[in-house]
Amino acid sequence: MNKTAIIIDTDPGQDDAVAILTALGSSRLEVVGISVVAGNVPLELTAKNVRIICEWAGRPEVPVHAGCERPLLRPLVTAEHVHGKTGLDGVPLHEPAMPLQQEHAVDFIIRTLRERERGTVTLCMLGPLTNLAMAIVRAPDIVGRIREIVLMGGAYFEGGNITPSAEFNIYVDPHAAATVLACGAAAITMLPLDVTHKATASLARIGLLRALPNRAGNLAADIMTTLERFDVQRYGADGAPLHDPTVIAYVLQPELFSGRKVYVAVEQNSELTLGATPVDWWGITGKPANVNYLTTVDSDGFFRLLADNLSTLP
Ligand code: BDR
Ligand code: CA
Repeated sequence: MNKTAIIIDTDPGQDDAVAILTALGSSRLEVVGISVVAGNVPLELTAKNVRIICEWAGRPEVPVHAGCERPLLRPLVTAEHVHGKTGLDGVPLHEPAMPLQQEHAVDFIIRTLRERERGTVTLCMLGPLTNLAMAIVRAPDIVGRIREIVLMGGAYFEGGNITPSAEFNIYVDPHAAATVLACGAAAITMLPLDVTHKATASLARIGLLRALPNRAGNLAADIMTTLERFDVQRYGADGAPLHDPTVIAYVLQPELFSGRKVYVAVEQNSELTLGATPVDWWGITGKPANVNYLTTVDSDGFFRLLADNLSTLP
């Protein structure tokens, strides 16, 4: 079976960790490399956390490339209030032995898309979109070579999670997000809060992962239990939303999700609504759709998929 080649761009982040483990556990994905960005915590920590996660998965050979230290135009905003000081609070962390690659993440993205056959590499974007925007600006020829950009970000029907109108990944670097959404790539799929707030880690679903007879299942369960403490207090839902793993799940099993092809832009100027992603759900602007905007998920199917893939890891 042909594997789908993916680059994961990420800022771990507890939910990033579960997403990366799920991808590394899948026999249907080739993780070509991981590019790291500043987001939930500063770059030094996100770059360390990615290597810890690869070592948890027994995959120290995966190339990890550090990328941009701050957003294109704005100072970095972080989310320690959700993910803790380390970015991965709630599980024991070790000093990773595997090295970071010398090559910058932006160069890695450009080189990979140029070297690989056109239309074969999917970009799984789990954090602020700074690295990809930089790559597009430096090398616009890569856009036509991308198979699909699948990104966790944005919010419309659900409201924001870092301001009343903006979702964290888009808010942190709205200029990068605007660059990516307007880049003209043939396929961009967005997993906004409108869908991730339906992918909730209830106690029963966490139990499914904890019952796995390996370390990865337990790590994922512990991470979700920690997330739970913050998110359930705030959202009062049946469990915390599990954002970033929906990106990997969509790549593996798109039929778990549904949505609509629509025009989406990013607010870059207003102080009040910076980073908002107004969705032209009813085609009011007449502008051509630039995004496949997902709004529903089969959440039990999603958790089964996570459990299946995590079960193959150490
Ligand atoms: C997104 O923000 C981060 O805190 C999470 O890792 C996720 O990528 C959710 O808004
Ligand atoms: Ca993230």
